[in-house]
Amino acid sequence: MRQVLKRNHRTSLPAHSRPQMPPFALPPDYPRIKLVSSFDELLATPFADGVNALCWQRTLPGNFSEVVEHLAAREGITTLEDSQLQTLPVSTAGRAAIDVLLEDLRLLRAHGLAPNLDCIDGYLRDENPGPVPTDVFSFHADSATVEADTYLCTYHGPASEGLRNDQAVRRVDIPETRAELLKLFSGEDDDDFLDHLKENCYDLHYAPIPQARPFSFGLGNLWRIAVEYPGSPVPPCIHRAPETLPGQPPRLLLIS
Ligand SMILES: [Fe+2]
Repeated sequence: MRQVLKRNHRTSLPAHSRPQMPPFALPPDYPRIKLVSSFDELLATPFADGVNALCWQRTLPGNFSEVVEHLAAREGITTLEDSQLQTLPVSTAGRAAIDVLLEDLRLLRAHGLAPNLDCIDGYLRDENPGPVPTDVFSFHADSATVEADTYLCTYHGPASEGLRNDQAVRRVDIPETRAELLKLFSGEDDDDFLDHLKENCYDLHYAPIPQARPFSFGLGNLWRIAVEYPGSPVPPCIHRAPETLPGQPPRLLLIS
């Protein structure tokens, strides 16, 4: 199994409101996303020619709400074990959903990955974000020290969201934000400052441009998205966690 050190975000408090995302529709005329039609193709397709996201679009069988209802959801993130899923007292439709979950986990593990299946009832939010929020609600790139990808599938609840690279600007490149960061750093805009931005993950977070149209990753689709690492042939895929509103059902998310 590859040992990959990924950095992406800090965490802190539960969420507040934000507009709902529209149903699943890929952004029009956007060549960085490629649709694939099988798990093998998802694995085998290289990130090249600017493509930085692969989507295996699926309509899954089974009742995922029933599975979520049976999980003793705690506030925050609960990582589910296979044994817990196998023993849930669900109907045939619930069992079909569990079979999908277990099969996705199996496929990713067989590829040497260590996926997590998380039931998420509120993320922690950056309490004192300063000039650059660094929680999962902020558009960001995942990063790694060596070649790596992120796999994502939302089975239930609000789906992950993406932002086109041409509609995103690194927050540290916005002059006012950089000036504020520099002031707080109390130093020069030199290599030490760049290290400071990196250590705090400030360099991984993006702001949407005013006319940006974020898109939903949709439910049931398994995505493989590009991560920022030294020598990556493509820019990273920018994404964020959706808002989880009070009273909404929890998310069921696979992430690796
Ligand atoms: Fe991420």
